[in-house]
Amino acid sequence: MKDTRLLWKLYPSYLIIVALSVFLSGMLVAGTFKEFHRSEVYNDLKAKASMIGLAVVGQNLLGSGRGRLNSYCTKVGDLIATRITLILPDGQVLCDSKKNPKLMDNHRDRPEVKAALSGHMGRSVRFSHTLQKDMMYVAVPLVVDGAIKGVVRVAMGLGAVDGALAEVRKNIFIGSLVVAILAGILCFVIIRRISRPLENLTDEVEMLRAGKRRQRLYLAENTPREFVVLANAINEMAAEIRDRIKTVEAAKGDLEAILSSMSEGVVAIDSQGSVVMLNDASKRLLDIRLQKAEGRSLEEVIAHPQVCGIVRRTLQRGESVEDEVARANGSSKILQISAVPIQNLKGGKASGALLVINDITKIRQAEQIRRDFVANVSHELRTPITAIKGFAETLADGALNDKKNASKFLSIISDHADRMERIIQDLLILSSLEYGSGSFEDFSRINAKQLVEESVKAYEPIARERGVCIAHDLPHDLNLAGDKRLLLLALGNIVENAIKYSGKGGHVAISACRKDGNVVISVRDNGCGIPKEDLGRIFERFYRVDKARSRQEGGTGLGLAIVKHIASIHGGRVEVESSLNEGSTFSLFIPTEPSPYGS
Ligand SMILES: Nc1ncnc2c1ncn2[C@@H]1O[C@H](COP(=O)(O)OP(=O)(O)OP(=O)(O)O)[C@@H](O)[C@H]1O
Ligand SMILES: [Mg+2]
Repeated sequence: MKDTRLLWKLYPSYLIIVALSVFLSGMLVAGTFKEFHRSEVYNDLKAKASMIGLAVVGQNLLGSGRGRLNSYCTKVGDLIATRITLILPDGQVLCDSKKNPKLMDNHRDRPEVKAALSGHMGRSVRFSHTLQKDMMYVAVPLVVDGAIKGVVRVAMGLGAVDGALAEVRKNIFIGSLVVAILAGILCFVIIRRISRPLENLTDEVEMLRAGKRRQRLYLAENTPREFVVLANAINEMAAEIRDRIKTVEAAKGDLEAILSSMSEGVVAIDSQGSVVMLNDASKRLLDIRLQKAEGRSLEEVIAHPQVCGIVRRTLQRGESVEDEVARANGSSKILQISAVPIQNLKGGKASGALLVINDITKIRQAEQIRRDFVANVSHELRTPITAIKGFAETLADGALNDKKNASKFLSIISDHADRMERIIQDLLILSSLEYGSGSFEDFSRINAKQLVEESVKAYEPIARERGVCIAHDLPHDLNLAGDKRLLLLALGNIVENAIKYSGKGGHVAISACRKDGNVVISVRDNGCGIPKEDLGRIFERFYRVDKARSRQEGGTGLGLAIVKHIASIHGGRVEVESSLNEGSTFSLFIPTEPSPYGS
C-alpha cells in the first residue's frame, strides 16, 4: 500500500471541494447577473417600444410617408441608442433606424413580430445577421381603432451586456481564485491541526513499541481531548500487555528451570518432526552438540537412528512407544526412551511428540548385581551343602563303622556347616547394614588407639598361630565419631585379611593419622598383594582374588563388602594400595565429627 500521510490524503479533496463550490457559486452569480441584465434590457425595450408605439399612433406617423417615418426612426433611435423598426401587418419593413428598409427581408416570421401581430408583446434574443451581433428584440402592436396597423420593434445589442458580463465573470474568477487559495490555506492549517496530534500519538506508540518509552505515552499540553482518551486507552493496554508478558515470561522461566533441573532428558517435537524445545539433560544423554537445535529436524539434531525411529513411529501412529537403546557414543550406558504423542487441544491427530530419555544404566547394573548375588549365594551355599550331603550319605552307606574315616568325615561335615554359618552370618550383617543398622543415634566418641588395640587383641592369637607379627603405634589424641561395634567389625576384617594373606613370618603394621576431617587408620602388610586388575573388584560381594586360597582360609568373600558398607555408614570410605608379592595397605577413613552417609 502506498504510504501517504493523512494530510495529503485529505487536503486535495478538501481543495477540490472548496474550488468547486467557489467556482459554482461564481457561475451562479454570473448567471443571475446575466438574467438580471437581460430583464433590465427587456423592461427598457418594452417601455421604449410602448412609448414609440404611442407616439407613432398619436402623431399618425403611419400615414405620413416613408421619408418622415425614416427620419423619425433614425432620430429617435440615435437619441435613445436603440434600433427602431416599423413593420406593416404583412411583414414588410416600413422603416428602420439602422438599415435601409428596402434591403431588408419580410419580417412576418420573426417570432417577436409574430407575437405582436397576434396582439401580444413579442420578445426574442438572437444573432442579427444585419448587425452581426446578439440582439434583443421587443415588438408591440400598433393598434388604431381596434385594428393592428403595424408593429413597432425596438432592438438593442447585447454585446455591451455581454462585455459587462465577461468583466463580472473575470472578477468572479479572480475572486474565486483568491477565495480558493485562502480556503486552501485554511484547510491545510485545519487538517494539520488534526493530523499533528495523530502523528505525535503514532510516534509515541512507535517509541513505546521500540521500548524507548518505558511506561506511558507523552502527549503535549494542548492535545485534543479525543487523542488524550485514545492515549490513555493505549497506556492501559500497554500496561496490561506488560503484565501478561511478565506472567508468561515467569511461567516460561519456571518451566525452563524445572526442565533444566530434571535428570531426565526431555525433547518436544512438532508434527513435522522439527525440534521445538529440549533440556540440558537430553543434550547430555543424546550427545547433542548443536548450539541451536530448536527448529531443526529431528535427524539433524539427534544422531541416533533408533531414537529418531521411535519418535517418527509415534508421530505417524499417534501412539506411545517405549524402548531401551544403547547410548550412541559406544559407551555401555543404557537409555530408556519413551515417546508420547502430544494431542492438540481438539483431541484430533497428534500435533507432536514428547520424547523422555532416562539413563537406566544404574538400574540395569543393580539388577545384574542382584542376579549375580543370588547366583553367587546359591553357588557358595551349594558347595558346603553338597559336601555335607555327600559325606552324610557316605556315612549312612556304612562308613560309620569305619571309626577312623567316620570321625574324619564328621569333622569335614562340621567344617562345611561352619562355613555355611559364616556365610549366612556375613549375609545377615550385610543386609542389616543395608537396612538401617548403624544409625546416627548409636554413634559415640571413640579413641582410635583404643579401637585398634581392642581389635588387635582379638586377632593376636591367630597371628601368633600363623607366625605373623602385629605392630601398632598410634597417638593418644585421635578421636573419631562412630558405632564402636561396627568399627571393630570393619577393622577386624582388615586385620584378619592382613594376617591371612601375609603368611608365616609376615608383618602387619597399624598406624593412624588425621587427614581432611577424617581419622585414617592404615593396616599395612607384607603379604602376597593384590593384582592391579582385581583392585577395583575386591569390595564386591563374594569376590576373591584366589578363590581356592580364600576358601582354604575359610573366607566367604564378603568381608571387604561389609567394611565398605560400614565406612560409608560413617560418612567415610576405604581405600587400598597394593603391589603384587610386596604387600597391601588398607586405609579406613572415618570422619572425626558425626557424618553418617557423608551428610
Ligand atoms: N591384605 C590382603 N592381601 C592380599 N589379598 C587380600 C587382602 N585383603 C583382601 N584380599 C583379597 O581380597 C579378597 C576379598 O577379601 P574379603 O575380606 O572380602 O574376603 P575373604 O577375606 O576372602 O573372606 P571373608 O573376609 O569374608 O572371610 C580376598 O579373597 C583376597 O583375595
Ligand atoms: Mg576377609
